[in-house]
Amino acid sequence: MPTRLIDTNAFRALRAHADAIRPVPLLELVKTPGRVAAMQHEAAGLFVDLSKNRVSDETLSLLAQLANERELSGAIAAMFGGETLNLTEGRSVLHVALRNRSERPIVSDGTDVMPGVRAVLAKMEDLVGRVRSGRWVGATGERITDVVNIGIGGSDLGPHMVCEALEPYWNTKKEGAIRPHFVSNVDGAHLARTLKDLRPETTLFLVASKTFTTEETILNAKSARAWLTSSLPPSAGGDAAVPKHFIALSTNAKEVAAFGIDVANMLEFWDWVGGRYSLWSAIGTSIALAVGFDRFVELLEGAHAMDEHFRTAPIQKNVPALMALLGVWYAAFFDAHSHAVLPYDQSLHRFAAWLQQGDMESNGKSVTREGQRIAGYTTGPIVWGEPGTNGQHAFYQLLHQGTRLVPCDFVAPLRSPYALNGGADRHHAMLLANLVAQSEALMIGKSIDTVRAELRAEGKDEATVARLAEHKVFEGNRPSNVVLFDRLDPRALGALLALYEHRIFVQGWIWNVNSFDQWGVELGKKLARTVLAEIEGGPDTGHDPSTASLVARVRASRGSSA
Ligand code: F6P
Repeated sequence: MPTRLIDTNAFRALRAHADAIRPVPLLELVKTPGRVAAMQHEAAGLFVDLSKNRVSDETLSLLAQLANERELSGAIAAMFGGETLNLTEGRSVLHVALRNRSERPIVSDGTDVMPGVRAVLAKMEDLVGRVRSGRWVGATGERITDVVNIGIGGSDLGPHMVCEALEPYWNTKKEGAIRPHFVSNVDGAHLARTLKDLRPETTLFLVASKTFTTEETILNAKSARAWLTSSLPPSAGGDAAVPKHFIALSTNAKEVAAFGIDVANMLEFWDWVGGRYSLWSAIGTSIALAVGFDRFVELLEGAHAMDEHFRTAPIQKNVPALMALLGVWYAAFFDAHSHAVLPYDQSLHRFAAWLQQGDMESNGKSVTREGQRIAGYTTGPIVWGEPGTNGQHAFYQLLHQGTRLVPCDFVAPLRSPYALNGGADRHHAMLLANLVAQSEALMIGKSIDTVRAELRAEGKDEATVARLAEHKVFEGNRPSNVVLFDRLDPRALGALLALYEHRIFVQGWIWNVNSFDQWGVELGKKLARTVLAEIEGGPDTGHDPSTASLVARVRASRGSSA
């Protein structure tokens, strides 16, 4: 059994060191000669500024020591080497193989997985080519114009986020362009509202489910099939139309066939791909349909470049590792409960939602990899965020003046593909100005003396100055990272997503949790099955009084509306 995190020499040293660092203003730390250059990094086309963090050289060296004591380099090698890191499910963790653009074999259970990965990519390329060129036609002979991805969790969040981010690459004006849609929620509103604007003749459904047993997805897929067969003209052949309008993305051929989808129309992946790490697999088919297979490959290439950086860079220069260690530092010694991700790019409006699953399903754990209760430190933070500048007018108040420290990541491309005002576009300049200003404001704050001077300069009397001054103080001293890249193209996006995936990996390793299982979602799923049976008229199975009253209320409402 490894040493408990809190008993490592580095963690003990960091605890004592944190007491010394806490009183030092961030602004003072930032002014240390040479610091900014030393804490700005380039990796896989991303520029990452870590200089606005409450750390000194000594902190960074202790964090590197912590990584060494936890044998992080060995863990990274083990992941890329296909070792069984997901101990509770007995699986290796090989999303990196899906974007391995090198000739390097990646072996899991004694077998090189790369030939299989390449074979599925070739099948995806063929399918995407047929749909986009119009060689694949629907049951009435019309070409496909709309694709609906039906999936939830990792089978939705990744591809949905990427499709939104790459909207400029959809080529909607060209013939053969495919519009992607996403249905995840079992709330019938989601499917009904999506189908409202679609024609069955030109719609292709991708049923995306690693297990093909996820109840929300299967119900949505069944309803979509019923919509298709009942709204196509009778000449289309009823159920015979299904193979021309349904594709499965799954690991489970048996269930795919049982659903009625021809397994020839299935793109396969493998149990060593975690659901929340699956956008790089067949689950990314909606992306390839929307932006083209070549752009999808560029996305993989961007991620691969970040993988290579993560696999080979020493800890002191390893950007995902550094970002992860900073998160560990704030969680352990600054009582940081959450982490905000703030993309200054409207196209990244699903980024925080994607990262929430990636991070919180991975590291929201309270036992160690060996099954011991975690004590003495906290694990995964609450991850949240919204694009700037919208967030500024919503929750930044708390970031600036709340009682909690919330480390923030600002993320933005330097150029926008959306030109307005005939090229004389101020939108992007204003957007980026806000990003820079927010990271500055969080750090520098505004002192009581400055506030008083400003109020007096405005002509306020001393009573008003006394009454208002404290309300207008900004403590400052709040840390942030800034991630910039030239454009939000597939390569940069791939690198960005891989950066955050590896950050999750490192944190999970340091906290000694299994980042690759998700038992915490099981209990609610199981209870929902029981409750549904009761709501639909089955016998009571016995609940606590609070739950029983809710079941009764919902059941009664169904009776009255029937
Ligand atoms: O919510 C639990 C979960 O298993 C996620 O990990 C996964 O991404 C999601 O459900 C969907 O699973 P599937 O792809 O098997 O339908």
